[in-house]
Parts: sequence; C-alpha cells; structure tokens
Amino acid sequence: MSTPHNQANKGDIAKTVLMPGDPLRAKYIAETFLENPKQFNTIRNMFGYTGLYKGKEVSVMGSGVGMPSIGVYSYELYKEYDVENIIRIGSCGSYTTELTLGDVLIAEDCWSDSSFAKVQNLDESDIQVPSEKLLQQCIDVAKEYEIPYSVGRIHSSDIFYVEEHAKRDWLHEFGCLAVEMESFALFSNAKVLGKHAACLVTVSDNLVTDEHMSAKDREVSFKNMMKIALEVAIK
Ligand code: HPA
Repeated sequence: MSTPHNQANKGDIAKTVLMPGDPLRAKYIAETFLENPKQFNTIRNMFGYTGLYKGKEVSVMGSGVGMPSIGVYSYELYKEYDVENIIRIGSCGSYTTELTLGDVLIAEDCWSDSSFAKVQNLDESDIQVPSEKLLQQCIDVAKEYEIPYSVGRIHSSDIFYVEEHAKRDWLHEFGCLAVEMESFALFSNAKVLGKHAACLVTVSDNLVTDEHMSAKDREVSFKNMMKIALEVAIK
C-alpha cells in the first residue's frame, strides 16, 4: 500500500514520527540519532526513515514548508499508516527579545488566520491545540534533562514574506511569542483523526532584533529540541 506522496508499506512507519520541515534534516536526524535507519520514502525527495532510539522504533520524515505540505503528509501518516503521534520539530521567528536565538519553545497552542481548519472540516476556530499528553511529556522531558525551554502560544502563518504595511502586532494582539508555518494544520489533522500532535520549535530568527542563525549554528542548537523529541517518542 502506498499513497500519492508516500511509497511506504503499512508497518514501515513507527507509531511516533518526528517531523522537521526539511527532508535533509530528517536524513541527518535518522543518520545521527537512530540505529539502523531504513528509508521508507523518497517520493518528491520528502525523505522518511524508521530506526531505533534506545532500542525503540521511531520514524522521522520531512513535512515541507507550510500548512498545505504538512497537511498532506501528516494526514496520510495518521490515516493510512496508523501513526499515533507526530511531533513537529521546527524553527521559528521570535516576536520578543525574551526569546533569543537557539531557545526552545514548546507550543501550548497556536493562533492562525489560515483557512486550513475551516476548509478541511468547517472548524472556525483560530486556535488549535496540541495533545495534552504530548505537551506534558515534552515539558516533563525538558525538566528531567534540564533543557531550558519556554511554553507559549505560537503564530502559525501561511506567509513567510509579509509586506511591511500588513504586519500586525501578533505578540500583543494575539499573545503569540513566535511564528512558524505548520503547527495549525498538524494540530487540526490530529484533532479530526483522533490522534496526537505536539510542536517544538527552536528560535532561528529574532524578528525584533533582526538576528538570524547561521546554517552551522542551526545544526548545533537544534540538539536540545531533538533530545526532547526523541525522549518523548519512546515514552
Ligand atoms: N517566519 C515564519 N516561519 C519561520 C520564520 C519566520 O520568520 N523563521 C523560522 N520559521
């Protein structure tokens, strides 16, 4: 069995999937953190792998950028491959100087003006939430391993390049600490299908101070977020 976007057979994919946006990051994670990784997807280069972490099966697959992309891949993982948990591991742009480059933010919920949930299932809410279970596990693991973290609302946006005159005060108007582009669709899919989702992001850009992480820094600083995700994946 396969889908238009995923050539894996049922059983090739673990119950928990970690989803970075970038498929090459999925490859790096599989090769760096998983034992005996086996690739299950190459369609559109949206690489996916299953391997062992501390002896337990975990999968990692790219989501692509934005809600239409993660919407497709996560829906198929839940619906066609019986995946129970998807943990997004991404980057974000911070709306506050209190979150600096490299900080880990765990999404308590997300706000969006995306039409994803409305078009998908007539859900008019502009807030979507992660599963309570996974959110709590992320917090517990961060505490256990003494990884510094924040918990708060993120802005899930359809637009990376927002024109200056269209920018809003997302921090004060909506309480969003940072922006990314996928969690709203992921959380909506999980809700519709009765599954679990969480979102961890690392600050790669500070949109207040205009600081941006180098490619090299990204690789190193994402390790804290990875540790949380991997430990939650085997709980
Ligand atoms: N905007 C949206 N998503 C992001 C950003 C940003 O500035 N940085 C990292 N992910």
